[in-house]
Amino acid sequence: MSESAVEARRLVKRFGEKTVVDGIDLRVPRGGCFGLLGPNGAGKTTTIRMILGHSPPNAGELTVLGEPMPVAGRRVRARIGVVPQEDNLDPDFTVMENLRVYASYFPHLDREPLEPFLMSLLDFVALADRAGERIQSLSGGMRRRLVIARALVNDPEMLILDEPTTGLDPQIRHLIWARLRELRNRGTTVLLTTHYMEEAERLCDRLAIIDHGRILAEDSPRRLVAAEVESNVIEVRIGPGVSPPVELVRHARLEVVDGVWHCHTDDPREVLEVLRNSPDLEYLHRPANLEDVFLRLTGRELRD
Ligand SMILES: Nc1ncnc2c1ncn2[C@@H]1O[C@H](COP(=O)(O)OP(=O)(O)OP(=O)(O)O)[C@@H](O)[C@H]1O
Ligand SMILES: [Mg+2]
Repeated sequence: MSESAVEARRLVKRFGEKTVVDGIDLRVPRGGCFGLLGPNGAGKTTTIRMILGHSPPNAGELTVLGEPMPVAGRRVRARIGVVPQEDNLDPDFTVMENLRVYASYFPHLDREPLEPFLMSLLDFVALADRAGERIQSLSGGMRRRLVIARALVNDPEMLILDEPTTGLDPQIRHLIWARLRELRNRGTTVLLTTHYMEEAERLCDRLAIIDHGRILAEDSPRRLVAAEVESNVIEVRIGPGVSPPVELVRHARLEVVDGVWHCHTDDPREVLEVLRNSPDLEYLHRPANLEDVFLRLTGRELRD
């Protein structure tokens, strides 16, 4: 059995003249949670569509669960669970009917009797009491949880989630994180995309940061922070007409963002000393995080 869940070499996808995935090398290990992080339009969904065999690459090699893609698409998809970026539940059916119809796509499903198994999936995502309800009556968070339950119907070896928690409240987000951790601990490979740094930092064992169809960095969240940015950030709020102390520049890499000076440094002592002598400046001292890495690598320009 191959050790990688996904192995991509020099993978390319073009739409007309535009190269959307630009020769990426990607290895998603089996087991564990792997995150794809990138701004809007970076190529995350396109990459996932190639992994699922829904969109053939223009060049490169791709192996998923040890099988060549896209030729083995159908066989591979039977072993994967998918949570697409947009919920695609059938609005004419109830919660349970949605699962039942989906289960019928997997004729070899080794789950008899089926009904208690489907009920256990609803229970897993805290929807057991909604089994008979129509999709229209569900909140966004309930729909998202139902799509996750549906993705588990075929007992997948790998679960692929495209922005699983976008637009959801913190309570539901925490529930989804807990469930994804549980699945990972049971040995399911989890591959997700996200715009939330906190989600990536909490869930992912490894991450790839992707922009303009290229992978800019790939490692564990902690090692990315250690390797890509200074360990301390001191944010200084500069009021109108206040000129910041010039000494700051000497002791830190400075970045001005919307009237806030970000001082990036491995040794914050000098900066803090300067600020202590400037009582009219408000500041916040914090450890560097994944968002600092993300913004350092992908820049601050707006994407759409
Ligand atoms: N079928 C298509 N035809 C033409 N262009 C496409 C098609 N699908 C995607 N693109 C373009 O490819 C680029 C990457 O899109 P993709 O959906 O992969 O980005 P993403 O990283 O998932 O972004 P988001 O975070 O907004 O979901 C975008 O510029 C998009 O407009
Ligand atoms: Mg996307």
